[in-house]
Amino acid sequence: MDCSAFRFLDHQQKAHFVSRNPITFLDSAPFCSTELGHCLQANKMEAEPVNVSEFQELVKLALPKMYYDFYAGGAEDQHTLEENVKAFQRILIRPRVLIDVSRTDTSTTIMGYKTSAPIMIAPTAMHKLAHPEGEVATARASATANVIMVLSFSSTCTIEEVASSCNAVRFFQLYVYKRREISAFMVQRAERNGFKAIILTVDTPRLGRREADIKNKMVAPQLKNFEGLISTEVNTDKGSNLEAFASGVLNASLCWKDIGWLKSITSLPVLIKGVLTREDALRALEVGVAGIIVSNHGARQLDYSPATINVLEEVVVAVQGKIPVLFDGGVRRGTDIFKALALGAHAVMIGRPVIYGLAAKGEHGVSQVINMLKDELELTMALSGCCTVKDISRSHLSTEIDRLHCRL
Ligand SMILES: Cc1cc2nc3c(=O)[nH]c(=O)nc-3n(C[C@H](O)[C@H](O)[C@H](O)COP(=O)(O)O)c2cc1C
Repeated sequence: MDCSAFRFLDHQQKAHFVSRNPITFLDSAPFCSTELGHCLQANKMEAEPVNVSEFQELVKLALPKMYYDFYAGGAEDQHTLEENVKAFQRILIRPRVLIDVSRTDTSTTIMGYKTSAPIMIAPTAMHKLAHPEGEVATARASATANVIMVLSFSSTCTIEEVASSCNAVRFFQLYVYKRREISAFMVQRAERNGFKAIILTVDTPRLGRREADIKNKMVAPQLKNFEGLISTEVNTDKGSNLEAFASGVLNASLCWKDIGWLKSITSLPVLIKGVLTREDALRALEVGVAGIIVSNHGARQLDYSPATINVLEEVVVAVQGKIPVLFDGGVRRGTDIFKALALGAHAVMIGRPVIYGLAAKGEHGVSQVINMLKDELELTMALSGCCTVKDISRSHLSTEIDRLHCRL
């Protein structure tokens, strides 16, 4: 097999091939030595990854650095990126004992749809950089697991390709571009193709400063959804072409009154993603959104914005159960999902872990990641004395603030 063919294998296949053909590879052209190095290292990782962090390690070895950094990185000092994960670690679980947990059930209902767990796939851009099957593989894995996938506006597979790949409940994430007609067209396509809700991302008037992408001169591919509408191939000598593209299209003047416009062009429920304060949660209720997603965009936008788990309760309290509050940011374990639910989230969305599963093993890897998190959640529930998702309550947690109050 020559080097160009090797590039088209998925990472699992590459590792497998290298393990069978080390000599062939050592003899092959020098320009694939980096890839070979990655695969040999990946191959050395023993057995199957047993948690999300191990998937991430595998992918760090297997993916080209430019793509790994694009997926894993955050904004500027990456303070919020670290905090999104660490803030979970400061929250402790208060388990109850002597409860019959011989039967546990992680299923729940999200926006009226029954799912196998309070887990959703967060919208993340450009899955084909992780795996040649891109969002179609992710869609199939989420359908098999019966969890809702939110397709990114910036997907590498088209809305139609994802919709026809399998039957499932899916939501569509939207950016409102300066050229609003492009966004309106995407909403119509999502609606026509059976998507069940529109999730408007509201934390991106401009692109956050992702320094790894700038240093790597990250190159975003042409997005098929926009063919004939807008060119995503922007040339720039300086830094990442993502920044140059985003500054051309993102609409920094989008504001609360525009939610009315969006609601007027679709019959689908509109949720907003990127709320971090009680003030904005109250405004969201006023303008009549169908749900809120507490999110800091996986710490890729405003550095030193709070870890999302630290502000979830503030939003939940403001909303008073009038609309569902979903959550994302830093979820890496079933215990994290349990904690977010105890603080009032209806469900959590998973961003990077899904990409790591996809990059490592395609559709099967995404399935493994979802199942790992589901199993971990189910075990956490059993060990905490909760048979169903509804049994998880605020009294199952002790946050830093709770512990401070105890001392006063
Ligand atoms: C590589 C990457 C691409 C993303 N692309 C989008 C996007 O296109 N639209 C969007 O609303 N959010 C996007 N997000 C943010 C995710 O929807 C989600 O908020 C975040 O990943 C959750 O944090 P986690 O990765 O720690 O789970 C992206 C995040 C990552 C890591």
